[in-house]
Amino acid sequence: MSNSDNETTAATPPSLHPNLVVSPSKAHRILFTKLRNLDTSCGDFVKYAKRSMRILVEDALAEFPTNPLSITTPCGPHKGLDSIVVTEPTRLCAVSIVRSGDCLLDQVREVEPSCTVGKILIQRDETSPNKEARLLYTKMPPLHKLDYVILCDPMLATGGSAKTALNVLCKEPYRIPPSKIIFCNMICAPEGLQAMAKAYPDVKIVTACIDECLNAEKFIVPGLGDFGDRYFNTVE
Ligand code: PRP
Ligand code: URA
Repeated sequence: MSNSDNETTAATPPSLHPNLVVSPSKAHRILFTKLRNLDTSCGDFVKYAKRSMRILVEDALAEFPTNPLSITTPCGPHKGLDSIVVTEPTRLCAVSIVRSGDCLLDQVREVEPSCTVGKILIQRDETSPNKEARLLYTKMPPLHKLDYVILCDPMLATGGSAKTALNVLCKEPYRIPPSKIIFCNMICAPEGLQAMAKAYPDVKIVTACIDECLNAEKFIVPGLGDFGDRYFNTVE
């Protein structure tokens, strides 16, 4: 997939992750320009983030299994497409990495209010040089072997938080097959994608853009800073 029209600041080498999808909407580029700008107020950040996340979530949900579906419009027959998460939304479980992932989760629930919801509280240790992810709390709904999972977190930096969440989902007691999980994310660093490729190559990643690199503080460059602090107005 070409990224020339997307909000990508680097090319998308397929080698970064074998299951990577970049949401193709040109709107992301405009909306992300607002989000990235240091001068954008918290109110505007929330507004533009919600617009971009809604597009991203629709694109991510469209990556779950589909079947051809013939229907009749008022003007004639039409060969359409059916999605498992549209016809059986209760088979969809949306899981957020708290806190920033809750913003994406809200958009999933706007689209599919009858999905089940899980929460995994993970925080990066910002005092440590490698910003290790700390797992603090998990609350999952009852899961069935046919369920699909959309894991929500807007930022993939080192990949530590996403991998920690996937370790919860894919191991005992939940044992969700990685191929049934989509990781929905707004900005990826190449370092995070490579970490995910090594640990979870079968988890599909749907993102809005791939940035250049991480800085010494393991923040995404150019990125948008601390997503949670900007969205929840906790910037010091
Ligand atoms: C942010 C973000 C991811 C994580 C990404 O969360 O939402 O969860 O950092 O970084 P990583 O890939 O290096 O692990 P943070 O821990 O800052 O918590 P927050 O959502 O409460 O701001
Ligand atoms: N978390 C964020 O919110 N932003 C980054 O750039 C990295 C981690």
